[in-house]
Amino acid sequence: MKGFKAYSGNEASVLNYIISKFLKLSKLHGFKTVHLPLVEEVELYLRTSGEASDVCNKELFEVHRYGDKSRGWVLRPEGTAGCMQMVKEQSLMQDNHELRLAYHGPMFRYNRPQAGRYRQFSQLGWEYIGVSDYHSDFEVIKACVDFLKDLNIDFEIEINSICDSNDRKNYRKELKEFYNLDDSQDPLKVLDKAENFDNVPKMKINEKDRNHFEGLKVLLEKSGIKFTINPFLVRGLDYYNSTVFEFKSKLRESQGSLLGGGRYDYLMEQIGGKHTPAIGFSIGLERLLLEFNQEIENDLVVIASLDAPDFALKVADDLRKEGTACVIWKGTDLSKILKKAVSSKIKRVAIAGEKEEKAGKVVWKELSF
Ligand code: HAM
Repeated sequence: MKGFKAYSGNEASVLNYIISKFLKLSKLHGFKTVHLPLVEEVELYLRTSGEASDVCNKELFEVHRYGDKSRGWVLRPEGTAGCMQMVKEQSLMQDNHELRLAYHGPMFRYNRPQAGRYRQFSQLGWEYIGVSDYHSDFEVIKACVDFLKDLNIDFEIEINSICDSNDRKNYRKELKEFYNLDDSQDPLKVLDKAENFDNVPKMKINEKDRNHFEGLKVLLEKSGIKFTINPFLVRGLDYYNSTVFEFKSKLRESQGSLLGGGRYDYLMEQIGGKHTPAIGFSIGLERLLLEFNQEIENDLVVIASLDAPDFALKVADDLRKEGTACVIWKGTDLSKILKKAVSSKIKRVAIAGEKEEKAGKVVWKELSF
């Protein structure tokens, strides 16, 4: 099926490796992993991503009970709205001054599939809720920098401030005139898709957002993080305000956005909750796969059971108890087993035959390739 991909072998190992690194990063920063529904009411996204957004306008997958279209839901296209919905429904902010939530899992968007763009893809995301200072913006951006560096992935950072909804209303007017648009087109969406920015007017930034943005810029500069200010970075979803950012691939222009995020201080109000400022990001897992160029260490041990299968079981049990990952390979021809181990990039083989059983210990063979 176009846009829906199954992953096995090395690709699956890389995906698992990236997810495990993400879970470690989240733990290190006190972000607790939550598990969100894959299906939601369509209103959630119409209210937050915006009716005019591509995500709502063209890309939602509708879900029905088979044979009954009288009632339907949609597959989630992103995780931020669902996360905030959970926070509201479970009153998670009641006893907390802030929440640090992480999630990972599949998202669904109906778009034309191409390299790096799929109909089912996975996101790794953080939502840092209840915070409004630029230090939290910095913390989130710095974590993304550390994460991609740890994976040896090259990137460029673009940041911008898209101020508040009043400023954006004025900016929409200016853009509408500039592009000569009719009422059916959202000027910010036109700008989001534009490739040429010659003479395009820039948004006028208010004092509060300017101070916030300046504070963030100073922190980034102080910590040596390189970034570009892109005054035309507006993001495709409607819920953002103030700081927005994107990390872009240095290898690919098309579908080159590795991750995106920003502030969404008014989203909770859009879904009927109390004012709750927040900032977050989501990383495209499959996009990282395209950039990933590292050997993953294989620490799996093979136990060659030869003519003593019961002994091999005992050896495997002992190894697993001490935390060593291992599998038993049956067969009487040791040289064949070693050859197969080399081609599978196994570094250590434990020989567990009758002779070793009698001696009461295995013989270890270290392989190089
Ligand atoms: P987004 O920019 O729509 O933001 O998506 C985030 C990332 O998901 C993109 O940078 C890209 O890596 C990946 N992505 C998006 N669409 C596809 C696709 N069709 N195929 C493969 N990868 C894709 C959000 O979704 C926001 N929820 C981010 C956020 C979190 N903002 C605040 N908190």
